[in-house]
Amino acid sequence: MKKDPFTTAIRQGLGCKSKFIPSMWFYDANGCKIFEEILDLPEYYIPQAEHEIITNSAEYIASELPDEYNIIELGAGNGNKAINLIQNLNIHSPGCEICYYPVDISSWSNQQLRNKFEISLPGIPVKKVNLSFLQGLKGFVDCKKPRLVMFLGSSIGNMTITESIKFLKEVRATLSKGDLFFITFDLVKSPEIILPAYNDSQGVTARFNLNLLTRINKRFQGNFILDNFRHTPVYNSELARAESYLKSTKAQKVYLKKLKLTIKFRAGELIHTEISQKYDTNSICHVCTSAGFGLVDSFFDNKIYCNGRLLRA
Ligand code: AVI
Repeated sequence: MKKDPFTTAIRQGLGCKSKFIPSMWFYDANGCKIFEEILDLPEYYIPQAEHEIITNSAEYIASELPDEYNIIELGAGNGNKAINLIQNLNIHSPGCEICYYPVDISSWSNQQLRNKFEISLPGIPVKKVNLSFLQGLKGFVDCKKPRLVMFLGSSIGNMTITESIKFLKEVRATLSKGDLFFITFDLVKSPEIILPAYNDSQGVTARFNLNLLTRINKRFQGNFILDNFRHTPVYNSELARAESYLKSTKAQKVYLKKLKLTIKFRAGELIHTEISQKYDTNSICHVCTSAGFGLVDSFFDNKIYCNGRLLRA
């Protein structure tokens, strides 16, 4: 019988020596709700920086687009970034015919997004695509209208550099001549700014990380005791990335009844749950050119915390 991907991820990630759970599993309905709270945290600078990048780049992006096109957003989340962009595109080139396709596996986020669009941009058709990014994009391969594909939120940071290049190559393979790709990268900066973004004073990111254990408990009838694990973020300056872990505060055993799996933890043992890669301009160029993209233009926020790149396939 074919195993579902969450079961495979948990068996592989918790059954091995250096325990890990890929960060894509953060986003069940509760994880999405907590992530919305993260987006409003004073320490989490990415949404504000990207808001500025979108505002600063919209006039130029509008000048590169035809009168009729589709916007496809990978990992659309609550839709705030797309609403900001489309509102600004409408200012700079009014009257264009736009259809917006948010691609997100979370149906909870998609409903949020639909409600927001109805209020902020009632004239724009929204056609949600409840698929993985690449599956969603493949559905547009034969589409006649030009596309603006967006991958914002600095979400590329949740992949290693090698994974990023592979992913961007696959994205590029689905695009046609004339299509545009808009992507944002979180830039390398002082760890004193980066680390608090993943270790906020209100403990929201800790709840986000620990929610993984709640999700596992629910899905596999597990008995993880959340108080026995600590959210543990670090900044790895050698690899220029924030890393998040769940640290076992004591030696313990956890049983996942549905998988008939016993997991042993030593005191202080870590489960690696996320990387958030930070980029400098060289690494951005490396990733984009290795994937075969050409640069159209590059944009920054006022503090130069993030970089938006408009690329051509
Ligand atoms: C979605 N992603 C880019 C976020 C990040 O910054 O790595 C997820 C996140 N994790 C903790 N805070 C935010």
